[in-house]
Amino acid sequence: MTYILPNTEEKPVYVEQMFNKIAQKYDLFNDIVTLGMHRKWKRFVARQTGLVDEQKCLDLCCGTGDIAREILRQFPLSKLTGLDFSENMLNIAESKNTPEISVKYLLGDAMSIPFQDGEFNAVTIGYGMRNVKDINQFLKEILRVLKPEGILVSLDIGKIKVPTIAYLNHFYFFHIVPLIGKLLMPGENIFKYLPQSSLEYPNQESLKKIMTQTGFHNVHFHNFVFGASTVHVAYKPART
Ligand SMILES: C[S@@+](CC[C@H](N)C(=O)[O-])C[C@H]1O[C@@H](n2cnc3c(N)ncnc32)[C@H](O)[C@@H]1O
Repeated sequence: MTYILPNTEEKPVYVEQMFNKIAQKYDLFNDIVTLGMHRKWKRFVARQTGLVDEQKCLDLCCGTGDIAREILRQFPLSKLTGLDFSENMLNIAESKNTPEISVKYLLGDAMSIPFQDGEFNAVTIGYGMRNVKDINQFLKEILRVLKPEGILVSLDIGKIKVPTIAYLNHFYFFHIVPLIGKLLMPGENIFKYLPQSSLEYPNQESLKKIMTQTGFHNVHFHNFVFGASTVHVAYKPART
């Protein structure tokens, strides 16, 4: 049966319910689908923030908190906040806090970040931008909460340019990934959302352009696995 993505208005509720349902299996699913490589990419994201001393970082769409914890591992003095609208994902994230690695988690909508302007030195996102209802609005909101010269680092699915590899990746994403999802969660069809949502998501160059148009500067991206995975880095301009 053909799978149809939710429309823009329905998307937030759909996404929130979906992640609440899959929360228990999310980490395992990620490990299997990326063959554990997401851990390396998340270490890369954390490294890009280059946080100094007690600088503040906001991990948006933090899910089970992988990126936030990794940043604290690399920058132990930094102050980390994770924000997500899925209560079940946040419960798992909170259960992973330890006395040494402790992230402050908040339940909330990343489209309307509950912080004042210029609060953070860095904002990170892992597989979140693809899930929000309006990327332009989301980026504007991130610019608002970043300090001047603050950094945005976003990890997500990218587009592969080499046709044969793109074809193989498409097959994997549309046939193997939903199967893995079904095996992990029998009776659920929600893992079809993942490949379908990647089709509508802008390619690396387009996202770079959108980020620049929104007001970020020095936007660049790093590809992994021929571009199947990509990390965008962008900066808020200094105060003029
Ligand atoms: C694919 S998971 C990524 C989790 C984690 N960042 C990682 O890299 O593994 C996407 C997360 O984004 C959250 N999310 C999506 N849209 C959101 C929004 N508008 N506000 C807050 N959280 C959102 C979902 O609840 C989910 O936990």
